[in-house]
Amino acid sequence: MIILLTGTAGFIGFHAARRLLSEGHRVIGIDSLNDYYDVSLKYARLAELKSHENFEFYKVEISDHKALDVAAKDKGVTHILHLAAQAGVRYSLDNPRAYIQANVMGHLNILEFARHSGTVEHVAYASSSSVYGDREDGPFTETDKVRSPASLYAATKLGGEMLAESYQRLYGIPQTGLRFFTVYGPWGRPDMAYFIFTDKIMKGDPITLFAPDEMRRDFTYIDDIVDVLPKILSRPPSSGHEIYNLGNSKPNTLMQLVDAVEAACGRTGEKIILGKQNGDVSNTFADVSAAERDFGFAPKTDLHEGVKRFVEWYMQSSVS
Ligand SMILES: NC(=O)c1ccc[n+]([C@@H]2O[C@H](COP(=O)([O-])OP(=O)(O)OC[C@H]3O[C@@H](n4cnc5c(N)ncnc54)[C@H](O)[C@@H]3O)[C@@H](O)[C@H]2O)c1
Repeated sequence: MIILLTGTAGFIGFHAARRLLSEGHRVIGIDSLNDYYDVSLKYARLAELKSHENFEFYKVEISDHKALDVAAKDKGVTHILHLAAQAGVRYSLDNPRAYIQANVMGHLNILEFARHSGTVEHVAYASSSSVYGDREDGPFTETDKVRSPASLYAATKLGGEMLAESYQRLYGIPQTGLRFFTVYGPWGRPDMAYFIFTDKIMKGDPITLFAPDEMRRDFTYIDDIVDVLPKILSRPPSSGHEIYNLGNSKPNTLMQLVDAVEAACGRTGEKIILGKQNGDVSNTFADVSAAERDFGFAPKTDLHEGVKRFVEWYMQSSVS
């Protein structure tokens, strides 16, 4: 495959690029390298990839369709793994326009590129568990009604699924939507709870927990996701457009996450307990039977093991 991989300098994009390159595919990576979190981590991820002969990188803002076309055209792109997005729920409360720019306009430009390329056989794109809204029940299945996004981030991810569906129907571009559930691991995102807790506990700072016994997340280890991505990308859905949950299917409370971080750090942290934050959902819980049936998706890393591996990386990383 010749893969246009957006968000290559990001957490999931970096791991996906490494895996695809190791399997012998060609990766054309693009990323805006924005400063939503420490850019040095994005450069450090790119530095790991740049030595690979089948990798090339372009700094591109995907909402700029001309820059995107200049970087990606005439490269014979056969597959697109579209992961670039403005992520995070809380940031969307203060920076709403960043989400529309990246997740709606940017996604449209990727679809337009695919439409006019003449070479793209399949577009797989990142969606999110957040499209399920604020629900106490579970597991969530792909056929559940999703009409109640609890944040602007969730609304733009749901919008991305709708854009994909319309482009499949209009132009016959095969597409697969990937609803990721709280993905974590080495080289992870400094804005996510497991990274913040580790950082503060190791520095002796207090950690702030929002409704820690009520909040449950289906924490999913990065390798379990990356194991299945090449298989998904290489098989366009016969129906034209499919959406899959990619989660661990074993939710843990936020307090259990803290326990795992403290065990891996060998220290306990001072805790400040506050109520639930605006835009946060209480619970995520994936039914992954569709991905298991179609791709043999079988997450195998439990929270303690995954957090241990993250903390080992954090300890030796110069980025943290
Ligand atoms: N990590 C998770 O738990 C999780 C959960 C659900 C969904 N997702 C989705 O998975 C995808 C990857 O997430 P991640 O955790 O790797 O996040 P990330 O922030 O680490 O990676 C996203 C990358 O996209 C780049 N980017 C952002 N806007 C851009 C733009 N307009 N043009 C070009 N590049 C741009 C950023 O610079 C960043 O490197 C995102 O679409 C995200 O919404 C992630």
